[in-house]
Amino acid sequence: MDQAANLRRLVLETDKKTKKTKTIAITSGKGGVGKTSVAVSLSIAIASNGSTVTLLDADLGLANINVILGIIPKYNLYHVIKGKKKLKDIVITVPEGIKIIAGASGFHQLANLDPKQRSTFIESVAELDSDDFMIIDTGAGVSQNVLSFVISADEVIVITTPEPTAITDAYGIIKSIAAQAPDKIIKIIVNRVQSVAEGKRVAQRIINIAGQFLNIKVENLGFIFDDIYVPKSVRNQKPFFVSYPKSKASACISIISDRICNKETNTAKGSGLSSFFKGLFKSAEHEENEGRDEEE
Ligand SMILES: Nc1ncnc2c1ncn2[C@@H]1O[C@H](COP(=O)(O)OP(=O)(O)OP(=O)(O)O)[C@@H](O)[C@H]1O
Ligand SMILES: [Mg+2]
Repeated sequence: MDQAANLRRLVLETDKKTKKTKTIAITSGKGGVGKTSVAVSLSIAIASNGSTVTLLDADLGLANINVILGIIPKYNLYHVIKGKKKLKDIVITVPEGIKIIAGASGFHQLANLDPKQRSTFIESVAELDSDDFMIIDTGAGVSQNVLSFVISADEVIVITTPEPTAITDAYGIIKSIAAQAPDKIIKIIVNRVQSVAEGKRVAQRIINIAGQFLNIKVENLGFIFDDIYVPKSVRNQKPFFVSYPKSKASACISIISDRICNKETNTAKGSGLSSFFKGLFKSAEHEENEGRDEEE
């Protein structure tokens, strides 16, 4: 191999080693506002923009991502944590061009791992660190389980609809995040809007209240139209961005995906998967100790 080719290979390898995955948690205050639908189609849109994406199903109670994509994962993170499977054995690559990791319903068990099990797990997670993004679909509400995922991620997207109850609950979750992680980058998506003006109005309201009462900056990531093709695609078990690419909802997803991938406005690197899971372990441990304190 000539010298130039050798150097090129070295630079590419180093680049790969120093690149860190950006972790983005998708959450909401109120349930049923469209987190899973958005997480799946947005992941696919980001992948079609040329980035590599893993979608982690952290909604520990339900298996929604599987349903939307029509897949049945046999193993989940719990099997990796327990050392029964390697991470690469549980990652499912779907035809839509993204990778899926099924979450572990035994999240509380994370706190019970010994240091060796933890480091084995963190090491195996680092295998995935060559991806550009990890999108994490969480459950709704302010349970510590959900907050752990949110706080460990680099960024959080809070989804709301224009319904007053959803807006109030979105403010509630933003308040909880700000209390535990005041520097977290929080962005909002207003889903199921009837007009562009409604999307802007709802976002501005949340941004104003968060600024005024919590003194934190929330960013408007965009809106998604209320669109009959979204529930239709759920019934067909094929994500709307794939089955109805010309729908209004897909057009909105494209815009949001472009904003997320835009290198100019998004220059900060992610802190990587090892850092994300270390944070998760820490908060699981914290929760475990608090539980113990309460029992005592
Ligand atoms: N933009 C939209 N237009 C029309 N319907 C939508 C839209 N987004 C979501 N929905 C519908 O709302 C319902 C709930 O969506 P989804 O399961 O994605 O919400 P979720 O926030 O993940 O719920 P959960 O809190 O239970 O996890 C689904 O039936 C979906 O089809
Ligand atoms: Mg969901």
